[in-house]
Amino acid sequence: MAELKVSAIKEGTVIDHIPAGKGLKVIQILGLGELKNGGAVLLAMNVPSKKLGRKDIVKVEGKFLSEEEVNKIALVAPTATVNIIREYKVVEKFKVEIPDVIEGILKCGNPNCITHYEYVTPKFYVISKEPLKVRCHYCERTMEEEEILANL
Ligand code: CTP
Repeated sequence: MAELKVSAIKEGTVIDHIPAGKGLKVIQILGLGELKNGGAVLLAMNVPSKKLGRKDIVKVEGKFLSEEEVNKIALVAPTATVNIIREYKVVEKFKVEIPDVIEGILKCGNPNCITHYEYVTPKFYVISKEPLKVRCHYCERTMEEEEILANL
């Protein structure tokens, strides 16, 4: 019961089945490091998992995720499960899913792309989910996982 190494939370969100090593990135893209008045954030790294061998877990007390935040997590941690906790109970559980079209959450890696100069919402088409590859709607630049993670 590796889960017992990290305390249960009362109200909030547990992001489970994160690929080992990606937990910090999940905390970063959710901006949890900058929360001054937020609740507790718990990170477990390299926990044994039946499905993944090793996994990371992020628990955020008092926070519930927006659709945009769930989509960001999907790009970083496509295997993740989101658990919504109320009064210590899991009241909802779902797997994240990489969307076919990504709008607003990713910046284009091409410095000359119009999205850096005009007020247009960046938009990308997902060409491949595994390995992750997207194409910019505006400049047609393609980006792979490493560049995508750097531009979230
Ligand atoms: N959890 C928590 N606080 C709670 C309830 C659950 O931190 N009050 C965490 C558990 O530690 C686990 C996750 O939320 O990491 C999901 O809980 P649960 O569905 O009970 O666990 P499993 O059945 O092992 O989940 P799965 O089937 O998704 O692997």
